[in-house]
Amino acid sequence: MRYIRIFDTTLRDGEQSPGASMNVEEKLHVARQLARLNVDVIEAGFPVASPGDFEAVRRISEEIRGVTIAGLARAKDLDIERAAEALKPAEMGRIHTFIATSDIHLRYKLRITREEVLEAAVAAVRKARSFTGDVEFSAEDATRSDRDFLCRITEEVIKAGATTVNIPDTVGYAIPQEFGELIEHLMNRVPNIDRAVISVHCHNDLGLAVANSLTAIMKGAGQVECTINGIGERAGNAAMEEIVMSLKTRPRFFDADTRVVTEEIYKTSRLVSKITGMVVQPNKAIVGANAFAHEAGIHQDGFLKERSTYEIMRPETVGIPQSKLVLGKHSGRHAFKERLRELGYELSEEELNKAFERFKRLCDQKKYIFDEDIETLVSEEVKKVPEVYRLEELRVSSGTSVRPTASVRLRVGDRVVERTEQGDGPVDATYCAIAKITETKSHLERFEIKSITGGTDALGEVIVTLEEDGRTVRGYGSDTDIIVAAAKAYLNALNKLEGKKRVPEKGI
Ligand code: KIV
Ligand code: ZN
Repeated sequence: MRYIRIFDTTLRDGEQSPGASMNVEEKLHVARQLARLNVDVIEAGFPVASPGDFEAVRRISEEIRGVTIAGLARAKDLDIERAAEALKPAEMGRIHTFIATSDIHLRYKLRITREEVLEAAVAAVRKARSFTGDVEFSAEDATRSDRDFLCRITEEVIKAGATTVNIPDTVGYAIPQEFGELIEHLMNRVPNIDRAVISVHCHNDLGLAVANSLTAIMKGAGQVECTINGIGERAGNAAMEEIVMSLKTRPRFFDADTRVVTEEIYKTSRLVSKITGMVVQPNKAIVGANAFAHEAGIHQDGFLKERSTYEIMRPETVGIPQSKLVLGKHSGRHAFKERLRELGYELSEEELNKAFERFKRLCDQKKYIFDEDIETLVSEEVKKVPEVYRLEELRVSSGTSVRPTASVRLRVGDRVVERTEQGDGPVDATYCAIAKITETKSHLERFEIKSITGGTDALGEVIVTLEEDGRTVRGYGSDTDIIVAAAKAYLNALNKLEGKKRVPEKGI
């Protein structure tokens, strides 16, 4: 069976989803879980893009062992030097350098000729090779590039030392058969192709990213670039879990497999969803809430008689827990820590203490504590951002015969500010008061509210998306009181915007 390398770009391309940006600590949590999942490569970021990206790549390189850590770099000296610097502590480090190869990008974006692109690509690979023996070259917008030129640049970068050559469908334009033919063409036409691994990186603009990736594997690609839950730029990237499970479920068809520990898939999906705030749709293949639920009577009847009538994969294979009831009032710190570890969270002592305190408080409010409650409570701890605004007190009155009114008291630096406002509902009144105190210019793009588990005592989770001057952030808040959760989410987003004002924007 052929072995297909999984190059996970959740922390780089995935993070490019609007509002999905992660801080260094959050990235470390995801990276640890990706290591447990046993992916081959973790693309940890784009070091030259921002100090935060640099730090994330450096810290992940320092800590994660047994997995190759990649850093992205344009075909420019400074980018490559920054990537090399950030990757220095890595056990196995890869510099991933790229330049566009399609005429449309050359003419309008780069304003250079094909010869100049070729020269820059070869120089970048040589430069990267001076730092590491593991160099990947990507021909951005490969699927809209001239085929002969793509063959030529592939041959030249391999000669210059590229050990992996990636063929991205940057704009998600390719159709499976056509993409398969392109990979086949490269395999047949590039004389030194056997000296590098051919990789594919498909975007999902037409909903074909996974289909394109699988077709490429059939035609000889040895690496796929993908993200957890398919998150990524615009419509996202190919979903890792779908590619891995397609290969695993249809071994005779593909005659190829990965080293992914599939039992870790569900946990990884939940962790990424919690940390990025990118909700997984219920009907999402493999990891959606309904992916293994049988609703129709005929299906249920068949399934109960013999699972294989309607089930092509076992939920256990992707790590979907059989029993979700875990802890309660009498659970100790050790059991709590252990459960967290199983859920993919490894917290520092300080984070653990705070999370355990919140867990105990929740036990007083709620009889049964489910995995989802724990994830929500802990992900808030993990996602902590410096608090410019902190909620000190919230009082709300609403009902059928009173105008909803909220009094909010915030700590703003060393001042305490209070304000009372009215609104269409208690959330609106609370948000009006917060907006007045913070004098925010941001615009509320989305407000999502959900109950984490069943029951009227359930934890409520609120996710708000704010936009200010072209920057989008997501804020989260959870509480058994949904208005408090809404206030926390709004403040979390405002704190993120404040944080972003201090950090220079990514300069891609
Ligand atoms: O989509 C793309 O082309 C990319 C490259 C940088 C690999 O993300
Ligand atoms: Zn991409």
